[in-house]
Amino acid sequence: MIERRWRVAAMPEEQLDSSHFELVTAERPEVLDGQVGCRVLWISIDAAQRAWFQGVSYRDALHIGDTMPAFSIGQVVESRSGDFVPGDIVSGHLGWQDYSVVDADELTRIEVKAPLSRYLSVLGITGLTAYFGLFAVGEAKPGETVVVSGAAGATGSLVGQMAKLRGCRVVGICGSTEKQEWLTSKLGFDAAVNYRDENFRAALKQACPDGIDVFFDNVGGTTLDVALSRMAHRGRIVCCGVVSQYDTTTPSRGARGVPGILIGKSITMRGFLYTDYVERSDEAMQALQGWIEEGTLIVAEDILEGLEKAPQGLIGVLNGTNVGKQLIHVADPS
Ligand SMILES: NC(=O)c1ccc[n+]([C@@H]2O[C@H](COP(=O)([O-])OP(=O)(O)OC[C@H]3O[C@@H](n4cnc5c(N)ncnc54)[C@H](OP(=O)(O)O)[C@@H]3O)[C@@H](O)[C@H]2O)c1
Repeated sequence: MIERRWRVAAMPEEQLDSSHFELVTAERPEVLDGQVGCRVLWISIDAAQRAWFQGVSYRDALHIGDTMPAFSIGQVVESRSGDFVPGDIVSGHLGWQDYSVVDADELTRIEVKAPLSRYLSVLGITGLTAYFGLFAVGEAKPGETVVVSGAAGATGSLVGQMAKLRGCRVVGICGSTEKQEWLTSKLGFDAAVNYRDENFRAALKQACPDGIDVFFDNVGGTTLDVALSRMAHRGRIVCCGVVSQYDTTTPSRGARGVPGILIGKSITMRGFLYTDYVERSDEAMQALQGWIEEGTLIVAEDILEGLEKAPQGLIGVLNGTNVGKQLIHVADPS
């Protein structure tokens, strides 16, 4: 059977565009002992995929010809492992393709209790990242001011809503007036400011008259510089990601005011990976599931139909076209 896959056609030297990917077809690969063949159903688009071209701490750099990697949901079609049977719904790194053959120990079975897309958004890595970043790293407390960058994106939209549920005052930073409006009118943020506006610094100051207690940062760069100058005494900066630095030829030289401002205001600045808290996943899942059932957490998913849209999805996330979690719907389970 012939299957499609997106492979890396060229390494980006400047901004990512469609010429860096090529859709190719090939015979469905054989499943060997200990492996599982899966039909790909849903693909997660993550800003960090742009950083994977160069390589990151947890993943080697990509090369021309590689299948574009991605975290995904799939359905087992053929199994040569005792751990899975055809029909099982699984998550794992299945890539931008119709059909993926992977080692069984790289897959996790999903007991499906929600729409499948949720396992890549709120009930997946995005939800865990938002939950542990805000509560375990940021230690957000009722009454505090929480500011989140990338606020209308997958992680940011959950962080802001969870901070409201904790009783915090929440300010979102995003890149358009439409997103500002969405954050305040639909998600209940107290205020939203646009980092592209000339008066961004003044607007953030006005939105945070008592300073920022927790800054949950998804983007780094100039936004981090500006937020740093508004931090309150004993504030916490949660370094979750650096979207502004993934797709540029002129990366920032690092936040101005580090370490001076950190020292002067006793500020903690801490990076984390959601995997640091993997042993507490059940706690996060219970809380997230509870809020969804109560109807207090709005799950925003931005869905593109068809494997052919995968490059468009990633280029879009890097340019801010997405609202909420960007996903590619490839197929339905049989
Ligand atoms: N630490 C962890 O364990 C972990 C796990 C998962 C993800 N992450 C990180 O979390 C961050 C958010 O990921 P996500 O999947 O939720 O992505 P996302 O927020 O859904 O999408 C990225 C957003 O970044 C904004 N953006 C793009 N370029 C920007 C720039 N130059 N300056 C400011 N904002 C810019 C865009 O919105 P605008 O319209 O507002 O520009 C875009 O929607 C990423 O940095 C990712 O690497 C970390």
